[in-house]
Parts: sequence; structure tokens; C-alpha cells
Amino acid sequence: MAAKQETVEPKIPEILLNSGHKMPVIGFGCAANSIPPLDEMISILLKAMEIGYRHFDTASLYGSEEALGKAVAKALEIGLIKNRDELFITSKLWITHTHPDLVLPALKQTLKTMGLEYLDLYLIHWPLRIKEGADPVKLEEGDALPFDMIVNQVEMNVNWQQRKLVPFCKAKGIHVCAWSPLGASGTIWGSNAVLENQVLKDIAASRNKTIAQVALRWIYEKGVTLIVKSFNEERMKQNLQIFYWELSKEEKDQILCIPQHRGPVGRGDLFIVKNGPIKSVEELWDGDI
Ligand code: A2P
Repeated sequence: MAAKQETVEPKIPEILLNSGHKMPVIGFGCAANSIPPLDEMISILLKAMEIGYRHFDTASLYGSEEALGKAVAKALEIGLIKNRDELFITSKLWITHTHPDLVLPALKQTLKTMGLEYLDLYLIHWPLRIKEGADPVKLEEGDALPFDMIVNQVEMNVNWQQRKLVPFCKAKGIHVCAWSPLGASGTIWGSNAVLENQVLKDIAASRNKTIAQVALRWIYEKGVTLIVKSFNEERMKQNLQIFYWELSKEEKDQILCIPQHRGPVGRGDLFIVKNGPIKSVEELWDGDI
């Protein structure tokens, strides 16, 4: 059911990171089952900038780095933005390159692909390392290598509320950013569990909001920023309309009762390899599963 939409809010709030840099609380996700052809993807990204998105989240894995870089150049050329520093751009180190000698070459390659001089944030895509050339969706014995780091853009939505990690990070002054805030519905790595959740459906209907807006607002109220992906113009706008209204205590209590489970791919089962350094998904997430 489509809820009546308010007009697009002018500016997305920003949070201040420990580094002193500001980050808009909503990022535009640049991952999809298949990324549209280059020109179409550039148009989508320009449309997102026109609507008001200023934070973009890509990765070398996604195949959208080049389009994002070209969209930034075009946005500067046509005056949609005046300076590169009006944007917050994230990319990610893929797990074949999570080794000290390989980080800088991978980052340089990303910057070259994007035609950018710098990124605002460079994340380790998964806290794992695999052999170069290994197929990440079909790992074999010997493909998984040791790795000893901790990262913090995490899967978070009403179905996996990160009830241990969010307070831990808050206590340590670490900012949390949620990926899959809508449960990655319609993707090969997600499910419709968030958008079909009855609790959210009921709240959305009584508030004249969409289910997605309720799901996103709940994350925002947790003090967590979010990466939300839609390549559809109406949904791009809708996903920014989560400010200037609040969930009630009763609604948040209902959301707290939703049974918890990580997303099908977010669990990370595909990275557990026979005789690999990590023996189980329980070990991968320190038992938080
Ligand atoms: P589309 O690009 O066709 O809008 P997540 O943010 O959890 O990764 O979920 C992304 C998925 O949710 C995409 O398949 C996207 O498809 C869809 N989506 C994004 N925004 C909305 C919305 N407001 N309502 C319904 N589906 C949405």
C-alpha cells in the first residue's frame, strides 16, 4: 500500500565522526543483483544527488565504482555540486586484499577506477581474508586465510537489531552504520522478511507511512546511520522522508518483540571452510548469532 508522501526534506542530518569529519545519516547504497549499464547507473546516481543524497556507499565488489566516479565528475560539471567535499564517499577493500601488502594497491586501484583523489571512508568489506582468485560464493578447503581485524558497518534491521553490538559501540565511542536496513529485499543476498513484517505493516498503516519508512526510522532513532539502496526515483525520495516524526514507545516495544535472526547471507555461512581459520558462524560473530 502506498502511503501519501510528504515533500522531500531539504537536508539530511549529519553526524560527527571521531575523526572530526561529518557523515550524512543516510547513505545511498550502490549494490544490486546486477548493476545497470554504465550510462543508466550514472543517471540513477545523478538523480539520487538531485533528490538530496550526499553520502554514497560502494565497493570494489559491486561493480559500481566507475559509475559513481563518473557521476561525481558529471555533478561537478553541471553544477549539481560545487565541490567534491560536499559528498561523503565510501568504498571497500575486498577480502582477497585484506593483507598489509595489498591494501594500498587495492585503494589506489579504486581511486583510479573512480577518478577520485580520495575517499571519505575505506572499509574492510568483511572481517575475513580469502586467497586471491578464490570464488567467494564457493570457497574450497585452503581458500580461507588467517585475519585479525575488527570493522564496523554492520547488518542491522528490525529482524537483526544488533542488541549487543550497538550498546557496546556506543560505550566505546564507535559509530555504527547499518547495511541492509530493509533486509535487502529482492536481492540474492537478502529476503523480504523486513518488508513483510506484520508489526511494521501495522505501524505503517496506522501512521500513513510505508513499511520501509518505519524500518528506516527505527534505525535512525537508535542513533545508527544507514545505507539504503533504491534505484527507483519514488523510493529514493520516500527513503529520505524519515525525519520530523517519531515512533512511539509502544511502537518501539512492539518492534523489540520481533524474533531475531541475521539475514541469509549476513550470517556468513559461505565463509566457513573446511579446515579454515574460522570454524563456525558462532565463532565468526563471537557467539552473537
Ligand atoms: P529498488 O532499488 O527497486 O527500490 P536494503 O536497503 O535493505 O539493502 O534493501 C534494498 C532493497 O529494498 C532493494 O531491492 C530495493 O529495491 C528495495 N527498496 C528500497 N527502498 C524501498 C522502499 N521504500 N520500499 C520498498 N522496497 C524498497
